[in-house]
Amino acid sequence: MNTETPINSSIVQNEIDKLRIDNIGKASIREIVQLVNQVEEQTGDKYVRMEMGIPGLPPAKVGVSAEIAALEQGVASKYPMLDGIKPLKEEASRFVKLFMDIDVKPQGCIPTVGSMQGTYAAFHVAANCDVKKDTALFIDPGFPVQKQQMLVMGAKYETFDVFDYRGEKLRAKLVEYLEKGNINSIIFSNPNNPSWICFTEEELKIVAECANEYDVIIMEDLAYFAMDFRRNLATPGEPPYQATVARWTDNYIMFVSSSKIFSYAGQRCGMMVISDKLYERDYPNLKPRFDCHGFGNTILQRALYSLSSGTSHSAQYALAAMFKAANDGEFKFVEEIKEYGERAKIMKKLFTDNGFYIVYDKDGNEKVADGFYFTIAYPGMTGGELLEKMLFYGISAITLGNTGSEREGLRACVSHVQRSQFEDLEKRLTQFHKDFPIG
Ligand SMILES: Cc1ncc(COP(=O)(O)O)c(C=O)c1O
Repeated sequence: MNTETPINSSIVQNEIDKLRIDNIGKASIREIVQLVNQVEEQTGDKYVRMEMGIPGLPPAKVGVSAEIAALEQGVASKYPMLDGIKPLKEEASRFVKLFMDIDVKPQGCIPTVGSMQGTYAAFHVAANCDVKKDTALFIDPGFPVQKQQMLVMGAKYETFDVFDYRGEKLRAKLVEYLEKGNINSIIFSNPNNPSWICFTEEELKIVAECANEYDVIIMEDLAYFAMDFRRNLATPGEPPYQATVARWTDNYIMFVSSSKIFSYAGQRCGMMVISDKLYERDYPNLKPRFDCHGFGNTILQRALYSLSSGTSHSAQYALAAMFKAANDGEFKFVEEIKEYGERAKIMKKLFTDNGFYIVYDKDGNEKVADGFYFTIAYPGMTGGELLEKMLFYGISAITLGNTGSEREGLRACVSHVQRSQFEDLEKRLTQFHKDFPIG
């Protein structure tokens, strides 16, 4: 190791040793955060921090104002209805129509304590719809906390890395799992955390057709709604629309998070959107298992009631106001978050100019979009080795191995990297490339 690394190497090494794990590639996001905090504190140096996927922009003003107004009107003293306040349900249904061209009744639009709570409730109920179907299927790479939810529930899941199964190849891969008859749901995010791939219409149609044929529920995680900046998905009521499996199947739940699109992560208020058909559907095991009829009812009256008895009253007013303003074309939410795509474009170039390559690089024939995350690797290094070495160069990220990917490399998140740090990033990457010449 070159001792003249940009960050004091004995301090970095000491903090790595303190983690007491053989392979830093296995460190969780929070462990990396803690490590970098410690090194920054001791050295006074600032890292280019790409490990956490948290918003880096101010919250949408229209939401903040509506939430303050709701609090001043006294909603804090009242329990919200389990299924959400009426204006939120109506605006969410309009939002899905205007930005996706999909019809869902307000009934199926249910606020949750972040998308996280929505997936937790949905995984739990889906795992108990049919005794034969006790396993969820994740199309990976994916958001690690959802696997943690399965772990906490003691629920079963299977997973595969989609890297080698894009396009028509996806069908055979899905069928390989679905044929066994034990799968209750298929989960993926689109755009994808961590790889920022976006499934093509062809791929989404395949997923939907498989869901119809094998009667499984698609859980479509839209935490990065309309953030495929290659297309203008921002005009309400006009194509192109956010891509979705809902065009070809009724077996779906969509999760629309406010955390990234409205920079509203702190208030923990997201939306679960259950198709009209799925909402009403009775599954054989729901009555004996939950003493409740109907999928939607069970989610609401059993899972969400037990978890938190509803979602923050004032935050629901915020979300209702943000959806309404977006629906009315007054709040150009995509404009506000395009900054992420612009940062990614510049940062990707800094990496690729210095020997790195983009791991998940294509959707069909098209290059992946520039957005909230991108994936990088360096020839001849595993993800763990690369992460460890980059920590000495003042750059932090997480390994792809942490996300269910089988590729070697790292996930980089652009949200907390300021443009003023690009110069440092470039210098550090140039030195890295010099110190580790590609053979
Ligand atoms: C794919 C994905 N799903 C869900 C979430 C969590 O969303 P929320 O903050 O609404 O719980 C995230 C946050 O990073 C995410 O990346």
